[in-house]
Amino acid sequence: MKTIIKNGHIFTESEDYQADILIRDGKITCIGQKLSEEGAKIIDAEGCYVLPGAVDVHTHMDLDVGISRAVDDFYDGTVAAACGGTTAIVDHMAFGPAGVPLHHQFEVYKKLAEGKAVVDYGFHGTAQYVDEGILNELEEMASDGIPSVKAYLTYGFKLNDADVLRILEKMKEIGGVTAFHCENHDVVEYLRKKYKDEGRTAPLYHAKSRPNLAEAEAVERVLKLARMAGDAPVYIVHLSCKESLEAVRDARRHGQKNIFAETCPQYLILTEECYRREDGLKYVMSPPLRTRQDCEALWEGLADGSIQVVATDHCPFNYGKEKQMGIDDFTACPNGAPGVEERLMLLFSEGVAKGRITMNRLVGALCTEPSRIYGLYPEKGLIRPGADADLVIMDPKGSSRLTHERMHSAVDYTAYEGMRILGEIRHVLLRGSEIVRDNRFLGEKGSGRFIRRNTLY
Ligand code: URP
Ligand code: ZN
Ligand code: ZN
Repeated sequence: MKTIIKNGHIFTESEDYQADILIRDGKITCIGQKLSEEGAKIIDAEGCYVLPGAVDVHTHMDLDVGISRAVDDFYDGTVAAACGGTTAIVDHMAFGPAGVPLHHQFEVYKKLAEGKAVVDYGFHGTAQYVDEGILNELEEMASDGIPSVKAYLTYGFKLNDADVLRILEKMKEIGGVTAFHCENHDVVEYLRKKYKDEGRTAPLYHAKSRPNLAEAEAVERVLKLARMAGDAPVYIVHLSCKESLEAVRDARRHGQKNIFAETCPQYLILTEECYRREDGLKYVMSPPLRTRQDCEALWEGLADGSIQVVATDHCPFNYGKEKQMGIDDFTACPNGAPGVEERLMLLFSEGVAKGRITMNRLVGALCTEPSRIYGLYPEKGLIRPGADADLVIMDPKGSSRLTHERMHSAVDYTAYEGMRILGEIRHVLLRGSEIVRDNRFLGEKGSGRFIRRNTLY
């Protein structure tokens, strides 16, 4: 199958230019002027931007959190991703039963995704304890195409510092990346209990029980452990506040290498004022939303390259159902919020259109950097002959309102209801097939493929 995208304005992480793109058998084969090819389907991109399909390296499809389950399975969640311009995800696998090997969850997740996902997908391993078996398995997982693992410094299966160090040392040897959820567990547990005992159980106390410094302390600690492991690759997920950003900058100033930081649209755009609203439970996520000052610091960090990646932490629970578990007590509310579909639109409208970041930076943070860090490169996240023809064609002059009605996730709300958005996605291509046109999903259930990812070095 052949397609030519004509007259588009192409954006990469470092360049922009006007050219046509020829696609053959799912790959970009040629980029040039006035291209023609017998029998090719033509997509006219006049007046539009053409960028690589976005890569979301932090989702939680079908996540089982014990008290409930995230409401998007790999079909609904990836349809939403596709409609928002995301053509590849790397999903964080849930914790399994206590004591299971890493491969246990891989087997579970293969079954959850196969036959359902409509964009290409990979998984991050989840380290819920550490022993010799797990350390050996990290190597096997990398050979199986999963060269990354996530460790939590809070929640039930949190790791202690010695185990974090062991994982970092092993991952450095393999060339894999360890992702960390950074919050000081003891501080958070103490404050949650304190507020609960005082009867302060409204959603606002979710934020108060997880202060900026509880996150920044854990970020600093993990960065120092990575330094002790000889600058092991370390990736901070959902960095949400200015103090954590400073910790990242400080470590780099000291010469530490292989540090990667991710934030998410909710931390750039929404603030803790959301918890004062009647529907504050919609925003119960960890880390919590912060202040406007934090948002502005994160935009600056994104613009100057201190933050490499914007992912989503898509983890949807229905406001009308699962979130109501927290109605009398924020500690009983499942943590997480939807966002896989909104990311590109929000970053263009709130970031590029408002002059906070350039279009090149948007492509870097949503497409190329996540692909490079997590080993999807050079197939995903870039526009170059030989790369997969995963492409987004967007009209920078289009506009719309973000409403739940327009969304494709199975969840019953968007955290950005009513927000005016500049820029509209016209077409999304996955390996050359048009899977979205004007907010309509055209793809086929199960057409997403498992991505065997490479190590960082
Ligand atoms: O509240 C959140 N972020 N839930 C999803 C799991 C995690 O911590 O990333
Ligand atoms: Zn997390
Ligand atoms: Zn997460």
